[in-house]
Amino acid sequence: MIRITFLNSDGKVVEAPPNSNLLRVSLKEKGGIPFKCGGGLCGTCKCRIEQGMAHTDAVKPKERRHLSDAQLAEGYRMACQTFVNGDIAVSW
Ligand code: FES
Repeated sequence: MIRITFLNSDGKVVEAPPNSNLLRVSLKEKGGIPFKCGGGLCGTCKCRIEQGMAHTDAVKPKERRHLSDAQLAEGYRMACQTFVNGDIAVSW
């Protein structure tokens, strides 16, 4: 299992299987990441991987519509498009 820390929810820590979708884990475990569409369209789930960026999968084309290269370099992702394969800490 991997550990995901939801920094804006008082640092709540939850466990999930490797390669979990970040927004799905947030919904299931009440992590608190904001969302609307769940499908990579609205941009509401924009978040920042504060620790463990190397444990996330490749940035999707849909994310590039909402995030600049500079934001991506700073660790910003869209939670509904991001899969996690190791421990991370996320803020939003
Ligand atoms: S929830 Fe709409 S883009 Fe992720």
